[in-house]
Amino acid sequence: MSRRGSLAAGCLLCIGLVGTLSGIRAAGPGFRSSRQLPCVFETSKFIPLSKETELVRLHVRLLLSGTGRKDGQTFLPENLPPDKIPLFIVQESSGDILPYANEDIEMLDCRISPYYTADTQVIWPGRDIRASSSNSWFTCTITHTAGKYTTTAFLVRDQEQKENPNPGQFLPGIGEQFHFSAPLLVHSSPTRRRSGLARDVWLHCAFSTDHPAEVSIQWVLQQKGGHRKQLLAYSGASRRVEGLAPRAEMVLEEIPKGNASLLLRNTEVRDEGTYSCLVSVASLTAEQTIQLQIEEKPTVTVNVNSLSLVEGEQHKLVCTVRHYYPHNIQVQWLREPKDSWKVPDVVKNILSSSHRQSSNGTYSSSRYFLLTASLKDDGHRYTCRVDHPSLPSPVRRSVTVEVREATSTAWLLLLLGLAGSLLGALWYLHKVRSTAKPKPY
Ligand SMILES: *[C@@H]1O[C@H](CO)[C@@H](O)[C@H](O)[C@H]1NC(C)=O
Ligand SMILES: *[C@@H]1O[C@H](CO)[C@@H](O)[C@H](O)[C@H]1NC(C)=O
Repeated sequence: MSRRGSLAAGCLLCIGLVGTLSGIRAAGPGFRSSRQLPCVFETSKFIPLSKETELVRLHVRLLLSGTGRKDGQTFLPENLPPDKIPLFIVQESSGDILPYANEDIEMLDCRISPYYTADTQVIWPGRDIRASSSNSWFTCTITHTAGKYTTTAFLVRDQEQKENPNPGQFLPGIGEQFHFSAPLLVHSSPTRRRSGLARDVWLHCAFSTDHPAEVSIQWVLQQKGGHRKQLLAYSGASRRVEGLAPRAEMVLEEIPKGNASLLLRNTEVRDEGTYSCLVSVASLTAEQTIQLQIEEKPTVTVNVNSLSLVEGEQHKLVCTVRHYYPHNIQVQWLREPKDSWKVPDVVKNILSSSHRQSSNGTYSSSRYFLLTASLKDDGHRYTCRVDHPSLPSPVRRSVTVEVREATSTAWLLLLLGLAGSLLGALWYLHKVRSTAKPKPY
């Protein structure tokens, strides 16, 4: 009865809490303030009859029980909204998840899965030897959906709960609560990286353990074409880094501080792909992936800056884009009045050269058309507009066009010019004839 009373009191408190929480929610809920996160528990379940496995997904809640809170208050499960979602309570001080996960809950994807160590026992200081059983170790991966970071925590069931009543498959039931510690944490940020060519890029990967442990680190690149190659290997036993790719390095002195970051020097197009940072302690291995995308900005030029034409005259306008990567690029010619913000017309019938690739992997191409000057073009601007993933906003290069009427003087000049060149041609022909004449001897 007294327990029921305290629960009711707890619930009064929890209404108050929910109230303030929803107050915070309006300003964007933070994982740091709420210390809880909706998660998906994923496991594969063996079905004995069909001898198949099926993927099981359950909604659970991750709760960080901070023993290290400044106000000395700890989050008790009674303070939670009275729903029946299974709770994974993690002793936060063991592995610091929070400093890495201070973002809006809406942006975080959280998955918890059992971690199978096969028959290997995980020997972890301070952990019961039974921690090697299939029900003891879990991974909790929190991913920022916009690529800011990923954090993977290894969770291990707390010792006081070792008397497992059902040694079979672990499946959290309605309203159940489980207590964990997080003795190993691996973090990478950002997980999507862009770089130009010939730059030095850091791919950040950090880890922390609850005791000074022998750690092994590997960096592996899965290239776009599908090749997987090992770049670096650090062995905690020998305290040496074995470099297998000349432009990739790790800072040896940084590794004991939990810094496994990779420095890639002088980037090339073929460095593009998925990088894996594999951190192994005892028999636990965490893999964090980082996408590297190479992007190089195009240089855009047009063949003239301004044109002064006579009605009817023709001129080729060429827009050349050089040394960009990747090859998807949008190039348009626009016709617009010089001093107006009217929506420009897109010039049709544009011809394009094919993409040419340089030895460094960058592409070049051009778009052109033949402009036949008409009086309507006078005071207009022809603009080459280029959009490319490497550009924060499109690049524009303009040609201003002036068109004069073909007046009688202009006609006269044009005729005179023509007559002049005709005479010149005749004279030339005559000369050629006379020199080509067979000599009389
Ligand atoms: C790529 O190669 C081209 C042609 O050799 C060169 O002009 C360009 O500057 C190079 N780009 C980079 C980023 O090195
Ligand atoms: C890891 O070490 C490198 C090299 O000293 C440094 O630039 C980087 O900021 C370090 N990363 C972290 C997370 O401390």
